[in-house]
Amino acid sequence: MKASEPFITQWQSPSNIALVKYWGKKGFQLPSNASISFTLDACHTTTRLAATPGDLHLSIRVNGKEQPSFLPKIEQFFKHISELFPALKNFNYSIDTSNTFPHSSGIASSASGMSALALCVVDLLADLNEESFSPELASNLARIGSGSACRSVYGGLAEWGKHANFTGSSDEYAIPFTGYDEVFNSFHDDILIVHEGSKSVSSTVGHSLLNGHAFATQRFEEAEKNMSRMKAILHSGDLDDFVDLVEREALMLHALMMTSTPSFILMKPETVAIIDAIRADRIEKGHHICFTLDAGANVHMLYPEKDAHYANELITSKLVDYCENGRYIRDRIGRGPKRIHA
Ligand code: DP6
Repeated sequence: MKASEPFITQWQSPSNIALVKYWGKKGFQLPSNASISFTLDACHTTTRLAATPGDLHLSIRVNGKEQPSFLPKIEQFFKHISELFPALKNFNYSIDTSNTFPHSSGIASSASGMSALALCVVDLLADLNEESFSPELASNLARIGSGSACRSVYGGLAEWGKHANFTGSSDEYAIPFTGYDEVFNSFHDDILIVHEGSKSVSSTVGHSLLNGHAFATQRFEEAEKNMSRMKAILHSGDLDDFVDLVEREALMLHALMMTSTPSFILMKPETVAIIDAIRADRIEKGHHICFTLDAGANVHMLYPEKDAHYANELITSKLVDYCENGRYIRDRIGRGPKRIHA
């Protein structure tokens, strides 16, 4: 970097959907159990970072408009990462970010947003000769911003959290999960928007309610086993077992919310109606369309390419009626982040 010129970089990074869920933290931003996710494609964030020498100061624009409400989270992020890399304290940062999906759609933008920003910061660290570029470092920094974001730095599938059955796994960063059956290469995720707008309980608060939760120990043991089961399923391509495990994981996540102190429910009547309709259709037609849930009311409908015609029919004939303003997003497994010429 020349002293008088800003350093500029830009990344596009996708969201992801967990198959085995991260719910509960230990220490600082470390997961209580390992998790594994599909990286998405259509749902992504593009972030441009301009760093000018100066005292640490931040400005952020979302879709071209100043967004001071986003500042506290980003300031916290820079505070934490500049403890690891003090050279980051010597800049003013100007951040321009945009999502392909509306902020109000209820789709978590933290995974794509924090991974895109972390990738930009790793470019800066490389330019400063502090660290060479690595996805692991980007994943580690993304985790500090938002846990699930650390899985978005890889295409395909990503695993996060120390687990004996996943060689090279770590609580500090995600690793790519490879060698899975080819049926998963073309998996779809249609996101049915049941509720636009913010959630009644944030993920961060939800995670903290696992401390002292009556079922926490059982959950972490079950998640550990589900990771091994999921690994075997992803390798074999057994779709009956995939459907069963993915849906149980989603419902276990929401069961934990419903049994927290205080308890809370993020599902809406339409969420349950969609779940019932997917299951009834599967029994009737023998396809492999299943559902999973994030920490929210929206339903992610996962299915292999061979079942795409069943999925289209099910959405247009029935499920669209349960979606707020008839909205849904068609997505699929994606190839991971891209550096974009700034
Ligand atoms: C239910 O990553 O949003 O989506 O680390 O506090 O930012 P923070 O939480 P976040 O939690 C996501 C939880 C989940 C499951 C998952 O993605 O594994």
